[in-house]
Amino acid sequence: MILVTGGTGLVGAHLLYHLAKTAPEIRAIYRTEEKIIAVKKIFSTYTEDPSLFAKIAWLKADITDVPAMIPAFVGVEKVYHCAAFISFHSKDYIKMRKVNIHGTAIIVNLSIDAKIKKLCFVSSIACIGNAIQGKPITEENEWNKELDNSGYAITKYGAETEVWRASQEGVEVVVVNPGVILGSGFWNSGSGKIFSSVSKGLRYYTEGITGFVGVEDVVKVMILLMNSEVKNERFIVVSQNKSFKEILFSVADGLEKRRPSYKVSPWQTSLFWRISKMVSLFTKKAPTMSKYAARSAHGVSKYSAEKISNILDFKFTKISEVINDACKKFTA
Ligand SMILES: NC(=O)c1ccc[n+]([C@@H]2O[C@H](COP(=O)([O-])OP(=O)(O)OC[C@H]3O[C@@H](n4cnc5c(N)ncnc54)[C@H](OP(=O)(O)O)[C@@H]3O)[C@@H](O)[C@H]2O)c1
Repeated sequence: MILVTGGTGLVGAHLLYHLAKTAPEIRAIYRTEEKIIAVKKIFSTYTEDPSLFAKIAWLKADITDVPAMIPAFVGVEKVYHCAAFISFHSKDYIKMRKVNIHGTAIIVNLSIDAKIKKLCFVSSIACIGNAIQGKPITEENEWNKELDNSGYAITKYGAETEVWRASQEGVEVVVVNPGVILGSGFWNSGSGKIFSSVSKGLRYYTEGITGFVGVEDVVKVMILLMNSEVKNERFIVVSQNKSFKEILFSVADGLEKRRPSYKVSPWQTSLFWRISKMVSLFTKKAPTMSKYAARSAHGVSKYSAEKISNILDFKFTKISEVINDACKKFTA
């Protein structure tokens, strides 16, 4: 039996489809029925065969709720832990600690108790150290806790630390650190917003650079690692390093919309996040932009995925192909 957490999110939904093609038994946890319908929709973009979706046994549980999670581990041999709370707003920090760190500690404890064979954890490039002297960032770049890291990065790093504890307690683990994940479905949340915003006529772009990867490549790498002898290692999962400008322009071209035309400079974003923070103090609503989102919009971080490419002999799909495919599904 395979257990998937976060199966109702972008990564988890695509993972469930690819697992369902071969795995005999899959259990996935969920919190709301609507999200199960969203997963079914994603399956329908791959196949008209309903038997694959029917393979999934859904179990209602929050990962922070130990009694609810205990039944999820009955008979489980492999766990894919994709669930996380992703936010760049400081007001969400405590909740992120609870879901990402404490929730992962619960998954780890239950994995150790159930003596599962292998655990795959979806971490992030957010918790890999910065570039040294302009060289591409690798798995060896050490996280520096003294820096002004985002709450999301801190909690993903804390979650990874919990996962390494599992490896010391005899559970084989593999950790993937994807860049920004692009793919179809969930257009109004996470990276899916890139497509919906451009479709609505987004006018602004920035020239920051980071690593991007297609969701199908992420889940294929996860499954290959889980079916391999590889254990207790982490892998950057990035297809190409691209600027936000390039990504937004490709999405606009793919959707046949106008390209964003107004380049936002670092000082403008810097001013904007400060103003939006001040406004939020009066309105009590989340600021439109956080300091960390503003910083990443202009930061230049280039990642090397040489380790995973070599170990699995894996060829990543080009980002232009990932975007074209997602744009077709967006307009379908
Ligand atoms: N998207 C990216 O660009 C990106 C990049 C690098 C790494 N990652 C990592 O990849 C993983 C998957 O991300 P994603 O893009 O698929 O995120 P997503 O679409 O936001 O999905 C998050 C998933 O986590 C679940 N979840 C959140 N809190 C939970 C809780 N307390 N109990 C149970 N389930 C909970 C959500 O359930 P509900 O559906 O019920 O809300 C959903 O299934 C995360 O670990 C994220 O940190 C993402």
